[in-house]
Amino acid sequence: MNQALESRLQSELDGFRKDGVYKRLNYLDSPQGPVARMEGRGEVVILSSNNYLGLCSVPLVVQAGKAGLDRYGAGTGSVRFICGTFTIHRDLEAALAKFAGTQAALTYVSCWNANEGLPATILGENDIVISDQLNHASIIDGVRLAKAITKCQTAVYKHSDMADLKAQLEQAKGRRTRLIMTDGIFSMEGDIAKLPDILELAKRYDAVVCMDDSHASGVLGEHGRGTAEHCGVLGAVDIITSTLGKALGGAAGGFTAGSTALCDFLTQRSRPQLFSNALPPTVAASALAAVEYLGAHPELVERLHENARWFRQALIDAGFKPLPGETPIVPVILGETSRAIRMSEMLLEEGVFVTGFGYPVVPQGHARVRCQVSAAHTREHLQRAIDAFKKVGKKLGVI
Ligand SMILES: Cc1ncc(COP(=O)(O)O)c(C=O)c1O
Repeated sequence: MNQALESRLQSELDGFRKDGVYKRLNYLDSPQGPVARMEGRGEVVILSSNNYLGLCSVPLVVQAGKAGLDRYGAGTGSVRFICGTFTIHRDLEAALAKFAGTQAALTYVSCWNANEGLPATILGENDIVISDQLNHASIIDGVRLAKAITKCQTAVYKHSDMADLKAQLEQAKGRRTRLIMTDGIFSMEGDIAKLPDILELAKRYDAVVCMDDSHASGVLGEHGRGTAEHCGVLGAVDIITSTLGKALGGAAGGFTAGSTALCDFLTQRSRPQLFSNALPPTVAASALAAVEYLGAHPELVERLHENARWFRQALIDAGFKPLPGETPIVPVILGETSRAIRMSEMLLEEGVFVTGFGYPVVPQGHARVRCQVSAAHTREHLQRAIDAFKKVGKKLGVI
């Protein structure tokens, strides 16, 4: 490798270590679940996974993946329009459209790709995209790409600030298309988008709403159909993007759900769709089984929320101040990045895997450990985590 680049990268890595912000990978040697076997640590309680419903290791989901592999082989060997689309993709997309309450859906190898592939494809020079300040990095990059490629205008509104969104929409009145982009559940805060208000403003200003429901699919709403179901507005959101890598099986993949015309247009023009292979059939088959499993087991969603409520309250009773909320994402703010990383390391020493997040993922001074509760956790798992939090919290002077 080029020597100058090598030494620059090494010196930056040394800087990360010195500042206490270097991320160490932890190796798991068992399926993702409420507990997992971690190399060098034995069994640890997992409080850092998006496997909200525990579907990653449900036998039906795993078996469906194996059957998909046997039936279709490893993959398409190229992109879909060139070498064919497997029937499992069509079946999955039909199930996802039904799940999201839209006419159609189109899968991608990740929700990152779905978000990257949307604004740059549907917007042009006379359009604007208005994005929540705390949207996921994939939306931010998708918007940047759209600006670079199409020369569309871009704007950011203060997090969930409807007055600011209204002001930005007012300014954008002359634009051909106004696209509002929001997360359904914001991943670092765990709060829910003010979807009814966003839809109301969109109607008033003739704007299109695109919501990334990655953390809400399988999580919010009586049947886990996401933020729209939670808010009683299923079918009212123009475009929903989401991942298959969290509650919906946890493997990988993403999708965009919307009108038939939108999905057709993305099939024709969206670059990650046109120039990248399809979702591997084994992954598509597992995701389809996960969506079907969720349809047959809505009680998992209720259990998830019971666990989240219990855990949040137990943290409060122990003296922590988690961010208030009603989702299974429970962040505990600690301030400096190195403090969050230290707490996460100490929790791991106690057998609890919780990730610490700091700058630049969250703003300076707002570093945190983010707990994610699952329907698969038993009270015993959660109590073990609370005991570890109390021990570490006292040592670090957090409680
Ligand atoms: C809100 C949100 N959108 C998109 C993504 C990316 O999803 P994927 O892993 O399918 O690329 C994530 C993953 O962290 C996310 O939290």
